[in-house]
Amino acid sequence: MKSITVGITGASGSVYAQKLLARLNESPEVSRIDLVISQAGVRVTGEELGLNVAGTDGRVVRELLGQDSEKVIVHSANDIGASIASGSYLSDAMVIVPCSMGTLGAIANGVSKDLVQRAADVIIKESRPLILVPRETPLNVIHLENMLKLARLGIRIIPAMPSFYHHPKTVDDLIEHFIHRLLDHLGVSHEQLTRWEGTRKKGSGESGMGSGG
Ligand SMILES: Cc1cc2nc3c(=O)[nH]c(=O)nc-3n(C[C@H](O)[C@H](O)[C@H](O)COP(=O)(O)O)c2cc1C
Repeated sequence: MKSITVGITGASGSVYAQKLLARLNESPEVSRIDLVISQAGVRVTGEELGLNVAGTDGRVVRELLGQDSEKVIVHSANDIGASIASGSYLSDAMVIVPCSMGTLGAIANGVSKDLVQRAADVIIKESRPLILVPRETPLNVIHLENMLKLARLGIRIIPAMPSFYHHPKTVDDLIEHFIHRLLDHLGVSHEQLTRWEGTRKKGSGESGMGSGG
């Protein structure tokens, strides 16, 4: 059973966080989800999804999941004394989705100004898996250098980039496919219907060129 920390920051793409939370919540492999939303994350989630995710009570979980969940513990981004701020608290992995360039830069430089940044700093110092889902375009040299620095530390940079090789029909298909990639990296099982198995060469029955990214 896994305990996973989820951070939501003020980059565009809060729907990815909502979908990931739903998948983690329904997974029998996940026993606990620690959720922390930055101040800007609260604002962007409000703008993009029309949800009010301010505060730490059960209402935040209901807004995001459409139901209560005993698995999800919501922490205030100001609560630097929360469990996830300590390395002695055993979280198996952390994912920040979406991850703003502000939070990414803060993590790359050990700033730890709020609980999202501090929890990530702790995950790095404890050598546990950290996944960042940045979203920005275009990327400037500061963004790229910060990402390179983090990637060199083993942090997984998985940008919110939709793919099309699986022939998505709807925006939801694009989002789901991306969430499956995140679940793969978190080591949480799922029933992905669009896993790439190579391009069939006509008549040969062999796999040809192609790579499902
Ligand atoms: C509607 C909206 C969309 C935004 N989209 C992005 C984005 O895609 N990427 C990004 O890095 N910042 C984006 N920002 C700016 C961040 O929210 C801002 O830099 C904020 O200070 C980040 O704080 P945080 O890292 O603590 O969440 C957006 C802001 C708003 C209001």
